[in-house]
Amino acid sequence: MTVGPRLEGKVALLSGGASGIGAETARLFAEHGAAVAITDVNDADGAALADEINAAGGRAFYRRLDVTQEAEWEATVAATLEAFGSLTVLGNFAGIGERDPETGKLVKIHEASLAEWNRVMDINMTGTFLGTKHAIQPMRDAGGGSIINISSMYGIVGSTYGAAYHASKGAVRTFTKGAALQYAPDQIRVNSVHPGFVMTPLTEDLLNNPKIGGDRLGKTPLGRFGTARDIANGCLYLASDETAWMTGSELVIDGGWMAE
Ligand code: NAI
Repeated sequence: MTVGPRLEGKVALLSGGASGIGAETARLFAEHGAAVAITDVNDADGAALADEINAAGGRAFYRRLDVTQEAEWEATVAATLEAFGSLTVLGNFAGIGERDPETGKLVKIHEASLAEWNRVMDINMTGTFLGTKHAIQPMRDAGGGSIINISSMYGIVGSTYGAAYHASKGAVRTFTKGAALQYAPDQIRVNSVHPGFVMTPLTEDLLNNPKIGGDRLGKTPLGRFGTARDIANGCLYLASDETAWMTGSELVIDGGWMAE
């Protein structure tokens, strides 16, 4: 069965769009007819992805955007409007995990440094706030839109490691609900996505680790790690008009992990 194009006429701005889930979502959105502004701090991969999409007949550009910098958000939204004429979908994908900066190991709360706490909060939480803030007016001008905030299943439940990661993703979850209520009158929908264990550059060392990965796989009822496409498919649904009556919701895509 052929389905599509489901995003004809939409203009999407994606943060963290150069890699992993954000990159796969950019590809899928473009395949479904959206014009895509890919942003990241990884310029090489972001530019290569825009070239790939344009070569395949899609419409995309890459622009550097550090999500913690408000002026860069303002400039990127302006560049998107200039290139594509509107902004109707925002995907807040940019995010980092939390490790000890020296050893690269997972940390517990008593081991976490304040500097690392602040860095994770700035990117995962404040970046989502800034993106949402600057997307509102263009979406109002367009008569509505869809904001997709990537939280995590770790924004709903705790785990044996992590301090700021849980706090930042939990904040994204409830920030999403506040934004949904505040902008429903403008037909701007705001939903959060909660991936489980997904194989991407962010997680591949952990998931390929026999002990940590084996334990996580064992607790995943569907018996495999997620792919970036598994999560991108959920984002496609949220970006499309198929979710016109869905806002403030949590879309959990985790192979069944949270069901237990
Ligand atoms: P990834 O590492 O492949 O992609 C994240 C992207 O964010 C990278 O391209 C990186 O350069 C970018 N980024 C980092 N700091 C940035 C900044 N200051 N400004 C702009 N861009 C920045 O990771 P992945 O797995 O695709 O993660 C995407 C989102 O999904 C993240 O928010 C992550 O927390 C979330 N997530 C991932 C899960 C997984 O298992 N992979 C599980 C649950 C949530």
